[in-house]
Amino acid sequence: MKAIHWHNLVVPCLSEIIVDQEEPSGKKGLFVLNPECVIRYQSDGVLITLPRLMFESIYLDKDLASVIKNRMIDISELSFSSVKLLKQSGLLLSKPIKGLDYFEQSYTVANLPNRAILDLTHECNCHCLTCYHRDDLDNYQPSLADLINRINKLKSFGVVNFEITGGEPLLRHDLIEILNYLINQRLNYFLVTNGEYLEEVNDDLIELLKKAIAVVISLDGVGDRHDLARKRPGLYDKILRGLRNLSQKNVRFAFIYTVQEANVHDIPEAIELAYSMNAIIQLRPVKIVGSA
Ligand SMILES: C[S@@+](CC[C@H](N)C(=O)[O-])C[C@H]1O[C@@H](n2cnc3c(N)ncnc32)[C@H](O)[C@@H]1O
Ligand code: SF4
Repeated sequence: MKAIHWHNLVVPCLSEIIVDQEEPSGKKGLFVLNPECVIRYQSDGVLITLPRLMFESIYLDKDLASVIKNRMIDISELSFSSVKLLKQSGLLLSKPIKGLDYFEQSYTVANLPNRAILDLTHECNCHCLTCYHRDDLDNYQPSLADLINRINKLKSFGVVNFEITGGEPLLRHDLIEILNYLINQRLNYFLVTNGEYLEEVNDDLIELLKKAIAVVISLDGVGDRHDLARKRPGLYDKILRGLRNLSQKNVRFAFIYTVQEANVHDIPEAIELAYSMNAIIQLRPVKIVGSA
């Protein structure tokens, strides 16, 4: 089993290490996976982000990635408390039938996660203080073939909605090809960006951004506080100019505001800003990892 430390919660998952030994069982159980989960397919396995607190995640290693593919979870190797934790965390939806214990449950998997996060690149132009990717931001970019392979796999798992992110996705020179591929596969996408390059987007990319669910711009504060958090002087004003560009070209956009101690007081102003632009703003708590 691999358990990852994500925020302050570790969700033990499947396989060799049994966290508690208290109630081993030889029986199999099939559980419904919560479709609200977001899955991130990686070369070495699958990361599932749970729906309730969006930064609780579990990691399934390569063998266990078949959970998604085979649409079931075998809980026979898990302790009673691990299964309980998975259920509490919202990954497993099924309720125990009266009179049977967890290990005797057997359900058909009806729903699977239908959203996935696709990291296009580890490259980034910012150095945000709280970035959860800070330790792995480098120049690595998966090849186009690799990305297409991942998209195909995710599609075969039932994923239809893609969060296109990174690093900074607008640094991908083949972004047009990637988005076109998603469109040709009839898949939906939204793109999360730090907004640095929105002024410079060419007409071909604008056409593809118009087809996105939305372009989502990250905010870590208003004005200088945003620039300070992103260690990028002038970025906030650049974003505002970029948004004028998107607006004029009828591209839908929204904001993610990562709430942290330093920017709590800017929230009303950020909401006003979004409201004035007729855009949705999602407030997300900062995830305490690495530099955050
Ligand atoms: C990793 S960034 C990648 C996309 C792009 N570079 C950007 O900043 O929008 C994706 C989103 O995660 C947010 N984020 C980064 N570190 C975070 C953390 N520790 N907790 C919560 N959100 C975080 C960013 O603010 C951004 O909205
Ligand atoms: S812009 Fe995005 S990827 Fe880059 S450092 Fe900031 S949060 Fe991380």
